[in-house]
Amino acid sequence: MFIIKAPVEKVIELKNHIFILKIFASEIASIINPGEFLNVKVAESTFPLLRRPFSVCDVEGDFIFLMFNILGEGTKILAHKHKGDLIDLLGPLGKGFNLEGDYDTAIIVAGGLGVAPFPYFTRKIGDSKEIHSFIGGKTDKDIITYGMKNITISTDDGSLGIRGNVVELVEQNIERLKSERIKIFGCGPNAMLRKLRELCTSHNLNCEVSTECAMACGFGICQGCPIESVNSPERYKLVCKDGPVFNIKDVII
Ligand SMILES: Cc1cc2nc3c(=O)[nH]c(=O)nc-3n(C[C@H](O)[C@H](O)[C@H](O)COP(=O)(O)OP(=O)(O)OC[C@H]3O[C@@H](n4cnc5c(N)ncnc54)[C@H](O)[C@@H]3O)c2cc1C
Ligand code: FES
Repeated sequence: MFIIKAPVEKVIELKNHIFILKIFASEIASIINPGEFLNVKVAESTFPLLRRPFSVCDVEGDFIFLMFNILGEGTKILAHKHKGDLIDLLGPLGKGFNLEGDYDTAIIVAGGLGVAPFPYFTRKIGDSKEIHSFIGGKTDKDIITYGMKNITISTDDGSLGIRGNVVELVEQNIERLKSERIKIFGCGPNAMLRKLRELCTSHNLNCEVSTECAMACGFGICQGCPIESVNSPERYKLVCKDGPVFNIKDVII
């Protein structure tokens, strides 16, 4: 784990207040894995006081990429960074996705900004496995396809792709998908992850999800990020240290 001040290379607005931040951070780029995250101090000043967690979105050589939308003060500050500004990064943190294993096809299920960890995931899987990406959002404005492969889209209002939520989209395709050796990888709002858990339980599918909650330290000291666990002696696990990626059967979201 490093704490570094890393220079911004560029900030790209992908669409509709959704940004990519490209940062030169060779120490972190060389060791970070898909699904792991960084705890970012967005400003030199004491406001905002707490770091903000962001999944690694992609890695290219010595550069790391973060994807975010403007939600509050922290992300507003990040969106106004310029080339050469230094950003204080703590990471890599947490446990990411397990890409290895007994499957031939990775099924990505991403809702809204939940797509953020998957460009790097897709890059790392490369040609070693097939990938199908199911991407959902409320409207076409929420659909992000940056860095993704073999995409099928759903929107709640039907403005792009199939009308409905992304878990319904997977369900519509489940019999075809189940004819392959698949593993599901999900990230998105909690309501989406709960629906995905039901689907995976009823079809007995292997699935890992990246979870989110408010965080402070980011590495297991403050105990501020509990998630209820099942199949384990501890009643609670910590999202920052034991996750953010969990087997979907092992946590109550
Ligand atoms: C492991 C992990 C990885 C993450 N990866 C990404 C990522 O790749 N891209 C991205 O855009 N965001 C990601 N997030 C969420 C991100 O950390 C928050 O959106 C960010 O902290 C908001 O900061 P802010 O100062 O702009 O908003 P704040 O001022 O802190 O919050 C604005 C509003 O959003 C709510 N909020 C803050 N954090 C969350 C959250 N995690 N879930 C739901 N509501 C929240 C607050 O309660 C408040 O109402 C991740 C969170 C975790 C825990
Ligand atoms: S954020 Fe402090 S223990 Fe998880």
